[in-house]
Amino acid sequence: MPDDAMTLDQLTRSGEQGVLRFLTCGSVDDGKSTLIGRLLYDSKRLFDDQIASLKNESAKFGTAGDEIDFALLLDGLEAEREQGITIDVAYRFFATDKRKFIVADTPGHEQYTRNMATGASTADLAIILVDARKGVLTQTRRHSFIAHQLGIRHMVLAVNKMDLVDHARARFHEIVAEYIRVSDELGFEDVTAIPMSARYGDNVTHRSEKTPWYDGPTLLEHLETVEVTSDRTSLPFRFPVQWVNRPNLDFRGYSGTVVSGVVEQGQDVLVAKSGARSTIERIVTADGDLARADAGDAVTLVLADEIDISRGDLLVDPKARPELSSQFAAHVIWMDEKPLMPGRSYLLKIGTARTPATVTMLKHKVDVNTFERKPGRTLDLNEVGLCNFDTAQPVAFDPYEENRDTGGFILIDRSTLQTVGAGMIDFSLRRASNIHWQALEVDKSQRAELKHQKPAILWFTGLSGAGKSTVATLVERKLASMGRHTYVLDGDNIRHGLNRDLGFTEVDRVENIRRIGEVARLFVEAGVIVLCSFISPYRSERRLVRELVGEGEFIEVFVDAPIEVCIARDPKGLYKKAQAGEIKNFTGFDSPYEPPEHAEITLDTTAAQPDELAERVIDHLVRASFLPS
Ligand code: ADX
Repeated sequence: MPDDAMTLDQLTRSGEQGVLRFLTCGSVDDGKSTLIGRLLYDSKRLFDDQIASLKNESAKFGTAGDEIDFALLLDGLEAEREQGITIDVAYRFFATDKRKFIVADTPGHEQYTRNMATGASTADLAIILVDARKGVLTQTRRHSFIAHQLGIRHMVLAVNKMDLVDHARARFHEIVAEYIRVSDELGFEDVTAIPMSARYGDNVTHRSEKTPWYDGPTLLEHLETVEVTSDRTSLPFRFPVQWVNRPNLDFRGYSGTVVSGVVEQGQDVLVAKSGARSTIERIVTADGDLARADAGDAVTLVLADEIDISRGDLLVDPKARPELSSQFAAHVIWMDEKPLMPGRSYLLKIGTARTPATVTMLKHKVDVNTFERKPGRTLDLNEVGLCNFDTAQPVAFDPYEENRDTGGFILIDRSTLQTVGAGMIDFSLRRASNIHWQALEVDKSQRAELKHQKPAILWFTGLSGAGKSTVATLVERKLASMGRHTYVLDGDNIRHGLNRDLGFTEVDRVENIRRIGEVARLFVEAGVIVLCSFISPYRSERRLVRELVGEGEFIEVFVDAPIEVCIARDPKGLYKKAQAGEIKNFTGFDSPYEPPEHAEITLDTTAAQPDELAERVIDHLVRASFLPS
């Protein structure tokens, strides 16, 4: 920490003009850490004892001989020292007389997109490091592409290790020319190329005598003076409500951070989602009330009227409303080993709001190395694609181009709760607002009443050969004899018609179950008890169907039999074919099955006869009052 011990909060507070946030990109050997260490050291913002320990450690671990190894300044992470790579995003603060700086140091190994997305989402400028001996590499293109995706428009091309190419002017110009071709394709606002040697500080903080042919700024000069349009204050007012502050009945305030624009006492505000309006009565902080708060300020807003506002709502300027839609197109950077599956439900977090969301279509992928569009059905780790989204609740947003805080989101895996993707909204899809739900005259409860029954989905899941269809057929027969209205949806049958176009890859199975879920829901709307018999190997899609219908209307029946038993039964001879390698992606072989964690009914088909198992399902329906006792 610098001697005047700045905190991130203080640095970003309003009134602190001239804070530059930047990001450094480069791979393990490009000298990234050395460069940042050099900036910190030369800006004289290090504690003396930090320097002492650095000298000490340089001698022990360093790779710079007797000199200080600036790379060691950056991380206390043992693993990094052992492996020689930077593990995660590290933020550094330093300052000169002219400006304060926040630098995000992001590593260049496989998880680079995750780290870059983390570091770049708030950065205004990126330094792309290039080794003068190697020139522009594929990863240089990749990092530039991701930086551009994330909204960075100011680039510094740091041509490092000039000492190793004899400070040759021609080599520098060659690399610059190469990079200009890359940046022209992407379209940055400005690109500044600087020849340097981070290790010796040449053209980093002091002008180098070794490059008399270079008359541009040193890196630090450039960083001190570059003009970036990061002024979030000039954007429309946006305030995502973090929490409702209600310590007693006399006080009700909305706490959060002004992400853009300005808010003043007496100003009109609007709740983006509901359209409710009010006026700002007070702007409360720990240090007393304010007359005005700017982008970056954490405050509690008190409104003049009692309106319904909760966590996740976005308070905005009524004269500059954001978009509100449940369907939009967005670029996604995928960060998970498990690919993005269209049709699968993820948790989308935008500002302080969260909603389940699915990708309805992957329009195209973008090759991060060549920037070309290419077709694809899923997104793999570190891939980027343009996707159409459908969210369970409408989302208030601005296009990412206009406002990175209200146009950027993350996607979370609903089982592991890991962040799996970062998204940048491009535009809302008009389609959504042109299609309205047609209210039907006869409703679900009337239809059910006519049939004297409560509709439900009985969802049979399990391996092929476990006995799903056998039990489902028996249950239907029993229900029919009791005068119930039923229907059976079965894997093999549906795959002859509605889902004829789908195979057995993960993405196809996700779509298979999504469509069947929609059909099953229509049956429930029609008042029918629908029995669905599908392997449905993924928990997430079974949950998706569960969420399509009312509470309690989805009854999951796990038809359980060990794979050895299924192989022995092999009613369709498919296991034999799978074993012989004639069928690919066979569940239980080269395609997974995720058993239910909270099934309403579990049937062990090795322990009882089908008829007895079917009886148990009927018993459950009686107990859950779907059937009269
Ligand atoms: S699911 O996984 O998408 O839910 P679904 O239940 O519709 O599968 O279809 C499974 C049926 O397709 C099986 O009962 C079997 O008869 C047949 N089948 C053909 N190929 C495969 C395969 N590779 N994996 C599983 N089932 C297959």
